[in-house]
Amino acid sequence: MKKNINALVLAAIIGLLIVAVGLGFLFGPANPVPWILIGVLITIVVVYRWISSRDRVEWKESYTVGVDDLDDDHKRLIELINRFQTAYTYHTGEEFEHQALNELVDYTKYHFEREEKMMEEAGYPDLAAHKEIHRTMIAKVGEFQEEYQRTGHEALEGVAKFLSEWLINHINGIDKKYGPYVSRRQASV
Ligand SMILES: [Fe+2]
Repeated sequence: MKKNINALVLAAIIGLLIVAVGLGFLFGPANPVPWILIGVLITIVVVYRWISSRDRVEWKESYTVGVDDLDDDHKRLIELINRFQTAYTYHTGEEFEHQALNELVDYTKYHFEREEKMMEEAGYPDLAAHKEIHRTMIAKVGEFQEEYQRTGHEALEGVAKFLSEWLINHINGIDKKYGPYVSRRQASV
């Protein structure tokens, strides 16, 4: 069974149910069928909303690295991962999915460069190791893109989850280490 419910199919089912509710009421309000269908409609909407929120990632105050610009970058990255997840889950169109993935990859590259530059200016001692982790991630993301070009939509299964887990672990583990160096440097200029 196809894991992702196509948004158009779902919209069509909801549309049909609404029509059926309308027709059911033609037989009077005592007819139980439209009431049951209303219950089905509400359940579909609740489940749909639950599925959408389940995969979403939220930035938390505890994720701060102590540098506002870089926190803003991380928030933006989380937003782009969520958008990419939505594009994948609802698979409303190849164009939207493709664009969401590319936007996420481009912003990740931009952010890594900016972060590395700030670490460099702050004289952060573990810069080389941190850069290497970034390079490895960029290579991994490049593999996802290549696989996506080869096999399309199915290649992206689990990618958003992998990226969000990687990002949150990276922020809370490696990124937080440069925080004191970069914020000290910013305070001195
Ligand atoms: Fe980093």
